[in-house]
Amino acid sequence: AAAADIAVIAGDGIGLEVVPAAISCLDRVASVHGLTLRWNHLDWGSDYFRAHGRMLPVDGLETLAKHDAIFLGAVGVPDIPDVETLWGLLIPIRRTFDQYVNLRPVKTLPGVRSPLADDRPVDLVIVRENTEGEYSEVGGRSHRGQPHELAVQEALFTRPGITRVARYATALAASRRGGLTSATKSNGIVHTMPFWDEVVRSVVLESPDVELRSELIDALAASLVLRPWDYDVIVASNLFGDILSDLAGAVTGSIGSAPSANLNPERVHPSMFEPVHGSAPDIAGQGVANPVGQLWSGALMLSHLGHARAAAHLIAAFEAALADGVRTRDLGGTDGTADVTRAVLERIDRLAESYVTEEA
Ligand code: NAD
Ligand code: IPM
Ligand code: MN
Repeated sequence: AAAADIAVIAGDGIGLEVVPAAISCLDRVASVHGLTLRWNHLDWGSDYFRAHGRMLPVDGLETLAKHDAIFLGAVGVPDIPDVETLWGLLIPIRRTFDQYVNLRPVKTLPGVRSPLADDRPVDLVIVRENTEGEYSEVGGRSHRGQPHELAVQEALFTRPGITRVARYATALAASRRGGLTSATKSNGIVHTMPFWDEVVRSVVLESPDVELRSELIDALAASLVLRPWDYDVIVASNLFGDILSDLAGAVTGSIGSAPSANLNPERVHPSMFEPVHGSAPDIAGQGVANPVGQLWSGALMLSHLGHARAAAHLIAAFEAALADGVRTRDLGGTDGTADVTRAVLERIDRLAESYVTEEA
């Protein structure tokens, strides 16, 4: 029988609530499909940082490398600077394992209302460059405590870096509705963006079936609110993709439902699956966090591991629960994390027959 070794970093805040919820659903769906998921729970996060002065052990990245995938909740707490938690764990994982595609599907879920007056169904995917761009380590410095205080950081874009993420996005668009929007700021103000545009254009030219639109990031943000259903695949730099993914998540209901996959498409290294949202310190510990973003990220992980039927089964189960009105506060409901989890487990069982039969 198929088995996978998965490193789990629940992390901080609501990560500690939605990760166990998702694991129970993933285990249930796995058992229906004859898969064994072996979870290696790692207590890396802010408490680990308080005890050891670092976010992960010295050989932490080597430990992660031995797994088939990484399942992350979120890291970050109000009393530790984000620069420690994020540069100490999240960013090194994305870079060490060359997870250069951050795939963020955005889809209207059954029965979930958009905050927009017009809520036509949305089905788009953000392909976010995940290893360079504005999040570069080059030239980052600040001169503080003097009359002319300043902070600088260089955005770093490379031809191979843009090419590979643009290739991924183009192939994805070709497999969907053929629309690719590139988020840009090429009006000469941001000097890296004409280069981004040139490389993206040259990649898309290789695929005549894909239609490329370049849109300025400011106008694109407005347009995503006004006409989100017009988008198919959006390819964006690290920072632009980050901002657009919370925006698009909120437009379809809540960022609490938005999933992400940090992919190393060549599968040389493990990929990492985590929701788009963070540790949400404002609601942590209350049992009210929406587990759908974590569940959906788990489904992306199953798919990546080659278990497309199990992934579809899990998605169908949380969609069925939502369609029946089961939902957390951020989605306008009154259910807690545990209520949603119970409802999803029940739908996994109820739908099991159709998913297993079709596979046979
Ligand atoms: P956040 O995503 O944690 O929260 C933003 C808002 O959305 C909050 O009001 C929160 O309550 C709500 N929200 C988020 N997820 C929800 C869910 N599942 N259910 C219901 N409501 C939800 O963003 P933030 O508050 O800006 O950041 C908090 C901390 O998380 C910071 O330390 C930040 O750096 C960190 N962070 C970590 C990651 C990660 O580890 N991948 C991602 C984003 C932010
Ligand atoms: C995300 C998060 C991270 C990012 C932060 C926490 C560094 O916002 O995964 O979207 O900006 O990549
Ligand atoms: Mn983000």
